[in-house]
Amino acid sequence: MVMRKRSRPVEADVPRREEVKFEDVRLYLVERKMGRSRRSFLTQLARSKGFILFFFSLYSDEVTHVVSEDSHASSLWKWLKECAPKNLQNVNVLDISWFTDSMREGRPVDNLPTLPEGSTSTPVTTVSQYACQRRTTTENHNKIFTDAFEVLAESYEFSEMEGPCLAFRRAASVLKSLPWAVRSLGATLDLPCLGEHTKAVMEEVLQCGRSFEVEKILSDERYRTLKLFTSVFGVGPKTAEKWYRRGLRSFTDILADRSIHLNQMQQTGFLHYGDITRAVSKAEARSLRNIIDEAVRAITPAAIVALTGGFRRGKEFGHDVDFIVTTPELGKEKILLPNIINGLKKQGILLFCDYQASTFDMAKLPSYRFEAMDHFAKCFLILRLEASQVEGGLHIAEGDSRGWRAVRVDLVSPPVDRYAFALLGWTGSRQFERDLRRFARVKQRMILDNHCLYDKTKFLAATTEKDIFAHLGLEYIEPWQRNA
Ligand code: CTP
Ligand code: MN
Ligand code: MN
Repeated sequence: MVMRKRSRPVEADVPRREEVKFEDVRLYLVERKMGRSRRSFLTQLARSKGFILFFFSLYSDEVTHVVSEDSHASSLWKWLKECAPKNLQNVNVLDISWFTDSMREGRPVDNLPTLPEGSTSTPVTTVSQYACQRRTTTENHNKIFTDAFEVLAESYEFSEMEGPCLAFRRAASVLKSLPWAVRSLGATLDLPCLGEHTKAVMEEVLQCGRSFEVEKILSDERYRTLKLFTSVFGVGPKTAEKWYRRGLRSFTDILADRSIHLNQMQQTGFLHYGDITRAVSKAEARSLRNIIDEAVRAITPAAIVALTGGFRRGKEFGHDVDFIVTTPELGKEKILLPNIINGLKKQGILLFCDYQASTFDMAKLPSYRFEAMDHFAKCFLILRLEASQVEGGLHIAEGDSRGWRAVRVDLVSPPVDRYAFALLGWTGSRQFERDLRRFARVKQRMILDNHCLYDKTKFLAATTEKDIFAHLGLEYIEPWQRNA
């Protein structure tokens, strides 16, 4: 029986190609607040899982489950009563979460989140679009998708297409935060930051185990070459592009080209290429902590050394080891890095050092421009790490009998009153930091960076990361939950 008349033709209510698995469950998706295209997407999905759906303008008395995305149940019920006054007692009027759960399970789930008459809103657990409102451990249940997204993001980055690049990074970040693996597109219905393109890639991966778009990129000459060139310490996308345009395709090409002048960083990058591109282990990071600790305390016994970056987030491996060093006495931090560098040099373990003196000036804050780098004194180092200093030995290739390896170490040295901001900024992940700043700006009208938090007219003080989260009105997220 047709309850609502519309000019569009009435579609058959039973799936044609797909097999009906659940005879007793006859769905009706309410288009209000859902939109036509989304509704037809959901319809296709449900049919492919063997559900019976009533389509388009059709509302039939045979319907057993009405699913709505409209959280205002009172208006929904009013509308339903107009459509089907007779048999509403026998119908389950349900929240969309029942539908998404059922699609994920591939069967109608027993949990029935009803939308009772008179209720005004439904509690649906939502995933925030901001990484700083999600908890993301190092355990990634959706690696098959996030790996694909990262290739796409990088490929867009090489083409300087920031929009799609960021879209794929955000999508990857959302999936990383899930404590479960996505097994069907239906399961992603309530997730933010997943656009049409990302969903198309996911669908391919779900169906074929891989994405053809990603495979195409991975075999693309330009992508492969830029990826290879940027893997060298000191070579950014701009230099890589320049070399690519000159027709260079391999390291041999670069090293044989007499017209190319490699700077100190790049020369070191080539010299220690194998070691630097090899991941640093947790045990190696611990050993480096001792080395930095000793170098610092030899000069300033009261100095503070904190592990930051990926290892602070609990990662097992990293591309480098990051430390913050400062002194309890404001101003004394100025002599720290030059002295540490000297100490390391004397020990004979300093293979490379790029030292950047502080350009920090409180009077120039807050900065409204986005800046990739903060203004604190910092140095990017390559150190020689002896096997004998690492518990369980070095993380090196089998058959490597040198007894040492080169490792990348970053040191940053903020004044102690900026410590909490620097620690939060250097702990990462990059996506977590981006969203912290975006959240501060968009939601709180504040400015956050590695130096300070600024609220309209005043700086907000903080001695710990917890203070900063509290100022932002955010629940505290532990470092190991920031792997966004
Ligand atoms: N960072 C920064 N300013 C820089 C360099 C890094 O604020 N000049 C921050 C980045 O935002 C990042 C953190 O410091 O969140 C650590 O950077 P990096 O070592 O590149 O990344 P990790 O997260 O530590 O990852 P990995 O384990 O691969 O080193
Ligand atoms: Mn790091
Ligand atoms: Mn680093």
